[in-house]
Amino acid sequence: MAAVTDFAAVGAAYDAYSTGGRGRLRHDLVFRRLQAELPDRPVRVLDAGCGTGEMTLRLAAAGHRVTAADASDGMLAAATSRLSARPELAAHVRFLRADVEVLEFGGERFDLVCCHGVLMYLDEPATAVARLAGMVAPGGVLSILAKNRAASGFREALRGEYALARDLIESGTGVSVGHLGVRTRGDTAEELDRLATEHGLTPLPWQGVRILNDHRAQEWSPEPDEYASALETEWAASTRDPYRHLAPLVHTLARRAPDGSGG
Ligand SMILES: C[S@@+](CC[C@H](N)C(=O)[O-])C[C@H]1O[C@@H](n2cnc3c(N)ncnc32)[C@H](O)[C@@H]1O
Repeated sequence: MAAVTDFAAVGAAYDAYSTGGRGRLRHDLVFRRLQAELPDRPVRVLDAGCGTGEMTLRLAAAGHRVTAADASDGMLAAATSRLSARPELAAHVRFLRADVEVLEFGGERFDLVCCHGVLMYLDEPATAVARLAGMVAPGGVLSILAKNRAASGFREALRGEYALARDLIESGTGVSVGHLGVRTRGDTAEELDRLATEHGLTPLPWQGVRILNDHRAQEWSPEPDEYASALETEWAASTRDPYRHLAPLVHTLARRAPDGSGG
């Protein structure tokens, strides 16, 4: 399991990231794609590794019923505090302390199972993906946001950190220290799609996230017009080759057949 205790100390930094331009692009691109895949009615959602609750709150505000789980007490406390500022959403959200690799809900299934920005902190992805795929209801979707191993070193090169970039490109391991100062590991969209298939799900087209603006400084906070243009350009590139392959994050999605067949 990952060193999740690290997160108690980085919750505030993660919130600052989430409200800056880079973090907003990530959340807006992923949320837009989820909305495109979800039915036009309230559904049951599991947000595994919910962090400070950005996606939990967005999904709850869209009317869905969200179970939000995280292994870090600090992150759960931050998410709970954010929810308390939105009392109208309280009935839509329940928080649980749980490790994504051993999650168990007594047979409960969800129409959307999210695991965003978590696999990168685990030693390997297969255990968590197996567990999460097993919780997808018939017709439901598994949504994974992972660090893209295929683009190792690209961000560092664009920032002019050439020695580090060269190491990452040549080694291809995708292991580096992320913006929160925590060591992270990469996966590929192809591997994640293969794991989902092994568990009876059918992959949907994957999305590359923050392809064109990943090199921006952490403080980047564009004016609304610039942000809107950046977002639309990112959205256009996100599902197209060759652009999506160079994204720092891959968003893979896979659906269980409506009749529950395949797993
Ligand atoms: C970078 S944050 C992402 C939060 C949120 N999903 C998002 O996309 O904004 C990573 C979160 O994963 C959680 N985490 C790491 N390892 C975990 C594990 N084994 N089980 C459950 N949560 C874990 C951390 O505590 C942290 O809250």
